[in-house]
Amino acid sequence: MKLFVDTGDVKEVARAAEWGILDGVTTNPTLIAKSGRGFKETVLEICSLVPNGDISAEVVATDYDAMLAEALEVSSWAENIVVKVPLIEPGIRLVSELTRRDIRTNVTLVFTVGQALLAAKAGATYISNFVGRVDDLSTDGMEAVRDTVTMVDTYGFESQVLVASVRHPLHVLQAIQAGAHVSTMPLKVIEQLFGHPLTEAGLKRFLDDWNKAGLSILP
Ligand code: G3P
Repeated sequence: MKLFVDTGDVKEVARAAEWGILDGVTTNPTLIAKSGRGFKETVLEICSLVPNGDISAEVVATDYDAMLAEALEVSSWAENIVVKVPLIEPGIRLVSELTRRDIRTNVTLVFTVGQALLAAKAGATYISNFVGRVDDLSTDGMEAVRDTVTMVDTYGFESQVLVASVRHPLHVLQAIQAGAHVSTMPLKVIEQLFGHPLTEAGLKRFLDDWNKAGLSILP
C-alpha cells in the first residue's frame, strides 16, 4: 500500500520524506489555506521534497471551463503533480478530458461506491474515499472503501483506491484489510504508526543488558 502524507505544511512533508517511505502528498484547499503560503510556491516546494512521489493539487473552480483552465495550469507546474478534482458533474467531465490528455487525476470527496464508479469510468488515477467524515456521522466510513476496492478489482478498472480523511492508526489497519491501494494521513498518524509500548520496553531491555555487559559494536 502506498503511503501519502495529507498536509500543506512543507516542514511536515520534509520530516515524512526523511524516512524514505513516502509515496506522495495530498493537499486540499483547506490545508493550503492553513499553511499561510501561496498555492504554487507550496506545491512546488512539496514536489521538490518528494520528487518521486505523486503530489495532489486541487482545482477550486466549479464550472467546467474554469476547472479545465485551472487543471492545465496546475499540471504544468511539475511532472509529479496529480490534479485533484471534486466529484461533481463538471468534475467528472474534467477527469474524462484530462485522462484523454494523459494528465493524472485524484477524484476527491468520494463517499459512495456509486460515486467511485463514475470516477473510475472517467479514468481517475486515484479515487479519494473519505472515511473519517463518514465515521463522524456514526456510520462506517470504511464500508465504501471495501466496496470500491471490490468494484475496481471486479471490473478491472485502473484507478487506485485512496483512503482519505484518515484520523488514527485503526483507519490505516482497516485500509490495509480492505486492500486499498493508498492511504493518506496527517503526519501525526504516521508518527503514531511507529509506536508500541513493547517496542520501547524491548529496546530498553536490550540496551540495558548490552551496556551491563560492556559490549560495543564499533572498535
Ligand atoms: O485531503 C482530504 C482529507 O484527507 C481530509 O481529511 O480529516 O479533514 O476529514 P479530514
